[in-house]
Amino acid sequence: MIPVFDYLRGYEQIRGEVEAALRRAIGSGHLILGPEGEAFEREFAAYVGAGHAVAVGSGTGAIVIALRALGIGRGDEVITVSHTAAATVGAVREAGATPRMVDVDHDSLLIDPGRIEERIGPRTRAILPVHLYGRPAAMQAISEIAARHGLAVVEDCAQAHGARIAGRHVGTFGAIGCFSFYPTKNLGALGDGGLCVTGDAELAERMRQLRFHGFDARRTARIEGLNSRLDELQAAVLRVKLRYLETWLSARRRIARQYLEMLSDTGLCLPQSAQGTEHAWHLFVVRCGRRARLIERLTRSGIGCGIHYPVPVHLMPAYEHLGCARGSLPVTERAAEEVLSLPMFPELAEDEVRSVCRAVVDALRGA
Ligand SMILES: Cc1ncc(COP(=O)(O)O)c(C=O)c1O
Repeated sequence: MIPVFDYLRGYEQIRGEVEAALRRAIGSGHLILGPEGEAFEREFAAYVGAGHAVAVGSGTGAIVIALRALGIGRGDEVITVSHTAAATVGAVREAGATPRMVDVDHDSLLIDPGRIEERIGPRTRAILPVHLYGRPAAMQAISEIAARHGLAVVEDCAQAHGARIAGRHVGTFGAIGCFSFYPTKNLGALGDGGLCVTGDAELAERMRQLRFHGFDARRTARIEGLNSRLDELQAAVLRVKLRYLETWLSARRRIARQYLEMLSDTGLCLPQSAQGTEHAWHLFVVRCGRRARLIERLTRSGIGCGIHYPVPVHLMPAYEHLGCARGSLPVTERAAEEVLSLPMFPELAEDEVRSVCRAVVDALRGA
C-alpha cells in the first residue's frame, strides 16, 4: 500500500524533538499567545522574508482576518478562483464580502490574469490568487492589474510554503499572504493553524487585534474582532518543523522530478513549473481524460490517490446563490473532471515512486 499522504512517517523522524518542544510549551505556563507563538512568528517571517507575521487559528481564519484588516467586508467584491479549496471562497463570505470567481489558465490551473479585468466592477476591492498545488500564480501580471485598478492583493499560500518567484517567497507580493498549517500542508501542525505575513506594520497590528476579539493591550475591544489564534502547542511543533522545511521541499522536488521523468511517455498531462519560479510541490497533480478507470486500477494495485478538487466551488450548493452558472468557467469545470493527485510527501521513497509510475503505466495501457 502506498498512501497519497502519510504524516506519521515524517513524524517518526522528528518525534523526539517534537515531544520535547511540546513538553516545553506545556510546562511554560502559557497555552495561548505566548513565547512559542511569538518566536514562531519571528522565525516564519524571517523564512519568507516578510516584515511581520501574525499567527492565527487556521488558513481560513488567515484569509478572513487579512480581508477584514484591509477593511473589506459587506458590499465589497473579491476576485478569486473556483478551482481551489472551498475554504478560499468560504473565507471571503465569512469576511462579509462577495466572491467573484474567474476561470483558471488551461496550463497552470491557476487564476488566468487575462480574465481578471472583465470581472472588475465598481465594488471590487481585492484580488485573491491561490498558489494552488504549490505552484506560484502569475504575480507580476496580477500585481500590475491590481495597481491599475487600485485593488489590494491577498495571496492564498495555503498550499505553497516555500514556493518562490525569482527567489522571492509567495506571500510577499501582495499586501498580505495567508498560510495554512493544516496537517497535510508542506508545513503542517498537529492540528489546525494559520498565519498572515505582511510588510505593513499597521496592517500587522490590526490583524493582531482582529485575531483576539479586537482587543488592545488592555483587553478593550478597539475594533470588532474574532477568535482565531494559534495555540502554543502548535507553535512549538511548527518551530521544530520549520527547521526541516527546506529539506522536505528538496525531497518533494526530487519526487516531482522522478514522476516527470517516468511518466513522460504516458500521454498524461503533467504539471510544470514556470520559468524562474520554484514550485513547492504540495501536490503532484496529473490530468487524465479517463480518470475513473485510472483511479479504480490504481486503488486495486494499492496506490492511494486524491482529487483536488472534484466539484468546482461555484457549482457547490452553498455557493449557487453567487450566480456563477454551470458552463461559465469552462476550464475550471473541465479540470474538475480530469485532475488526479498522485502520492506526494517528503518521505516517499524512490522505489515507491517507481511503483506508483509502473502502476500508472500499466493502468493506462489496460485502460
Ligand atoms: C487553497 C487553500 N486555501 C485555504 C485553505 C484553508 O486552510 P485551513 O484548512 O487551515 O483553514 C486550504 C486548506 O485547506 C487550502 O488548500
